[in-house]
Amino acid sequence: MEILIQNIKGLVQVRNTSLKWVAGESMADLPVIENAFLYLKDGKIADFGYMDNMPAVDADEVINASGRFVFPSFVDSHTHLVFAASREEEFVYKIKGMSYAEIAAKGGGILNSAKRLQQTTEDELFESAMIRAQEIIRFGTGVVEIKSGYGLTTRDEIKMLRVAKRVGESSPLRVKTTFLGAHAIPKDYTDRNDYIKLIKEEMIPAIAEEGLADYIDAFCEKGFFTPEETEDIMEHGKKYGMKPKIHANQLHISGGVQVGVKTGAVSVDHLEAMGEEEIKALQQTDVMPTLLPGAAFFLGTSYPPARDMLNAGLPLALATDYNPGSAPCGNMPLMLSLACIKMKMTPEEAINAATINTAYALELQNEYGSITKGKVANVFITNEIPSYAYMPYAFGSNLIHTTILNGEIINKGLFDAV
Ligand code: NIG
Ligand code: FE
Repeated sequence: MEILIQNIKGLVQVRNTSLKWVAGESMADLPVIENAFLYLKDGKIADFGYMDNMPAVDADEVINASGRFVFPSFVDSHTHLVFAASREEEFVYKIKGMSYAEIAAKGGGILNSAKRLQQTTEDELFESAMIRAQEIIRFGTGVVEIKSGYGLTTRDEIKMLRVAKRVGESSPLRVKTTFLGAHAIPKDYTDRNDYIKLIKEEMIPAIAEEGLADYIDAFCEKGFFTPEETEDIMEHGKKYGMKPKIHANQLHISGGVQVGVKTGAVSVDHLEAMGEEEIKALQQTDVMPTLLPGAAFFLGTSYPPARDMLNAGLPLALATDYNPGSAPCGNMPLMLSLACIKMKMTPEEAINAATINTAYALELQNEYGSITKGKVANVFITNEIPSYAYMPYAFGSNLIHTTILNGEIINKGLFDAV
């Protein structure tokens, strides 16, 4: 399949070579080619440039994108996309003043999701996860990370990860999986060490045996897992080939950032509660700080100090955290808006954070995240819009007209004849 997109108003995020990431001041640079063409062949980005230099090529499909922008698909590097049921009853408790921690203590929260998931079959979970997968594709996502963590038994953690893998096999999304057995301590454990032992001695080996997880995660937070426990679990996962990606500093300064640095995590995620020390700890490391503003928005907590982190020269990634408890939303364009409006990131910084930097957070920076020759042909074409900054500006609109994943047209709007 060969697709030629021509007369593109702006081809966004063009990079001649793959970058590791963009950090600090460089996050303000977003290379765009105006009046461009893009040629996709055999599932890869084959060529791009100015319309004036467009070569004569064969194409099965020629798309006229005048007035429209073309972006690389978003990479959503942090989700809990597989879950059994929504939790809007807790949403109402929150409206009435209860905190996230109080709801968790009342048997709501993660344990509520785990109870529901344990009663749901693998096929039922797969069906509902596929509906969410289709939904996020329509919002421009092409690569997604999916965590376990609502199973909390060996059988149910494995069930979740199998479903996550099946989503990758059955949809055009590229899926990376993360084992999050250390999400909460199940109610039936009087000694928390028994559950940690189960994670280390039973869950991790079984999951590794089936090749079900790329990464290992823990909710390093007061009332959940301590920094010492998190480090122990991360080190154990590493022995089985799972790299750490940690829920850190969501509700408190938890020590999670430092554990991430110490264990060589690919990313530390959330970071609503950050002090100077935490920012310093991340400097000169390979850890990607990942911000999840959907969770801060939904829970009404403070937002991560994105500007301070950028001023310290750090890279930032931006993901949805799509989950039933703290962020029931897989809309990456809305995350761009929240990043701009609530964290004072510029549109350029937010777009870099949601493409190149999230690709790094999944170790896929050589395959996804920019318009670069040889990368996977994952792009979307917008509606006719005045500028790329219109994307985060028009919060809540879905401005995505056509999505192309792996060089195939997935969702197609109606184009004028060329
Ligand atoms: O990333 N913080 C921990 N885990 C999820 C929410 C879990 C839940 O409430 O179901 C998060 O916010
Ligand atoms: Fe999360």
